[in-house]
Amino acid sequence: MDRMRKIKRQLSLTLRGSNSGDKSLSETIGSQDTAHSDSEIVHEDVKMGSDGESDQASATSSDEVHSPVRVRMRNNPGRKISTEDINKRLSLPADIRLPDGYLEKFSLNSPLFDKPLTRRLRRVSLSEIGFGKLETYVKLDKLGEGTYATVYKGRSKLTDNLVALKEIRLEHEEGAPCTAIREVSLLKDLKHANIVTLHDIIHTQKSLTLVFEYLDKDLKQYLDDCGNCIHMHNVKLFLFQLLRGLSYCHRRKVLHRDLKPQNLLINDRGELKLADFGLARAKSIPTKTYSNEVVTLWYRPPDILLGSTDYSTQIDMWGVGCIFYEMSTGRPLFPGSTVEEELHFIFKLLGTPTEETWPGITSNEEFISYNYPRYRADCLHNHTPRLDNEGVDLLSKLLQFEGKKRISADEAMRHPYFHCLGERVITLPDTTSIFALQDIQLEKEPGMRASSLSDSVNSISHRQSLLF
Ligand SMILES: Nc1ncnc2c1ncn2[C@@H]1O[C@H](COP(=O)(O)OP(=O)(O)O)[C@@H](O)[C@H]1O
Ligand SMILES: [Mg+2]
Repeated sequence: MDRMRKIKRQLSLTLRGSNSGDKSLSETIGSQDTAHSDSEIVHEDVKMGSDGESDQASATSSDEVHSPVRVRMRNNPGRKISTEDINKRLSLPADIRLPDGYLEKFSLNSPLFDKPLTRRLRRVSLSEIGFGKLETYVKLDKLGEGTYATVYKGRSKLTDNLVALKEIRLEHEEGAPCTAIREVSLLKDLKHANIVTLHDIIHTQKSLTLVFEYLDKDLKQYLDDCGNCIHMHNVKLFLFQLLRGLSYCHRRKVLHRDLKPQNLLINDRGELKLADFGLARAKSIPTKTYSNEVVTLWYRPPDILLGSTDYSTQIDMWGVGCIFYEMSTGRPLFPGSTVEEELHFIFKLLGTPTEETWPGITSNEEFISYNYPRYRADCLHNHTPRLDNEGVDLLSKLLQFEGKKRISADEAMRHPYFHCLGERVITLPDTTSIFALQDIQLEKEPGMRASSLSDSVNSISHRQSLLF
C-alpha cells in the first residue's frame, strides 16, 4: 500500500505543471517546468525522488492561467456557454464530445468561467469530462507486449478516435513505474509531428495507463507486411521523418536510446513517429525487460557495447544507420545475440578497428579479451544494392565506430540524399507533417498485404511474435 502511495505521489509530482496551454493532455499530465540543464542528458530527473504535495498546494497563484475566454465570459454573464467555449478554456481537442448534461450544468453554474483557471479547477473540470478515467476508453485488441507494458488498441468515448492504451501493471517489479514516470515526464514536453502524442494518463490501484494517439503499425510490421521490400522513396521519407523527430529531441537534450523498428510507428498516411521513451532517461541501458526477456542488441553502437558510458545524442545515430540499412535491404544489419557476436558482426562488415580507425581501441580491455580476427572493411555498396551513392554515403556517416564522428540528426537531414525532397521540408514548423507539402507523397507499396479487419487477429500475433 505504501509503495502504491509513493508511486502516485511521484507521479503527481512529475506530472504537476505550470503551464496549461497544452492542447492534448489532461491536467494530470500538466507540463513540468523544464529544469534540466544542457549538461543533464541522461541522468535521472532529480525531482522524481522527492515527495509529493497536496492538490491544494498546487493551486497557487502561479497556477493561474489567463484565458481570453474568461475575460469574454465575465463581460457577458448572460451568454450561453458552448462546447467551443469549454474546449478553448480547457485547451481540449476540437473533436471532443462533452458528456450529456455537461453544458447545461455549466450554463447554470459556471465556475470554469467565473474564477481564474487554477490547476485544481482545470483538473476537476477535466475529470468531470472523463479524462484520467478508465471508463472513458474502450479496450479493444491487444497490440503487443513490450519491454515494460502491454499495449492495447482502444477507443476514446470522448472523441470516438482510436487510441493506444499502454498499460503498466503496478504489481510487477519496482522498475516499471519509474520507466513510466520517465516516459510521461519526457513525452508531455515533446510536441512534434514525428513524435507520438500522449493524450491522457490514468492511474488506478493496479495499473498506470498511458493513452496515446493510435498509429496503424510499427516499422517492423510495415516491413513484414510489404514482404521486406519497402519502396526506396518511402525509405527516404521514413528516414527523414525519423531524423526530424530525433533532431527535435536532441535539440532538447533528450536521447531516445531504444531506437528499433518496433518503436517507430507508422500511420496510413506514411507519417512516422517515435514512440517508447521508456528508456530515454534511464541511468543505464538494461539487458533484461521486466518479463526477463533480453533487450535487443542489434541497434546498439560499438562504443556502448564496449562499455562506454559517455552517452550523448550520437548514441541514437548508430541505430538510425541500422534501421536505414534494414529498411533498404529488408534484413537486420547486425543481428547478434550476445555482445561478442554483435561486435563480431559489426567488425566483419566495417573492419576490425585499429588505432588508426578508432584511436584508443587497442587499450580497451574488453576489446582485447575478445581477440577478434583482423577483418578488413567491406564495401557498403556490395550489401545495399537498392541504395544510391548518396544513400550509401549517408549510411557510412551514421555507422561510425566513435560517437563523436557520427553525423548528427540535424546534419543528416541536410545530407544530399534528401535534396530531392526540396528545401521546405527542413524549415517546416515542428508540429507540421512533411505530407503537408504537396510534392511529398508516399509511394504505393506493390507488395503490401492488405490489412483488412479480418486480419486483425493475425496481426496481433504477428506483432507479438516480433517483439523481443
Ligand atoms: N500509439 C500506438 N499505436 C499503435 N501501436 C502501438 C502504439 N504504441 C505502441 N504500439 C505497439 O505496441 C508495442 C509496444 O509498445 P511500446 O510503447 O514500445 O512498449 P514497450 O516499452 O513495452 O516496448 C509497439 O512495438 C507497437 O507495436
Ligand atoms: Mg517498445
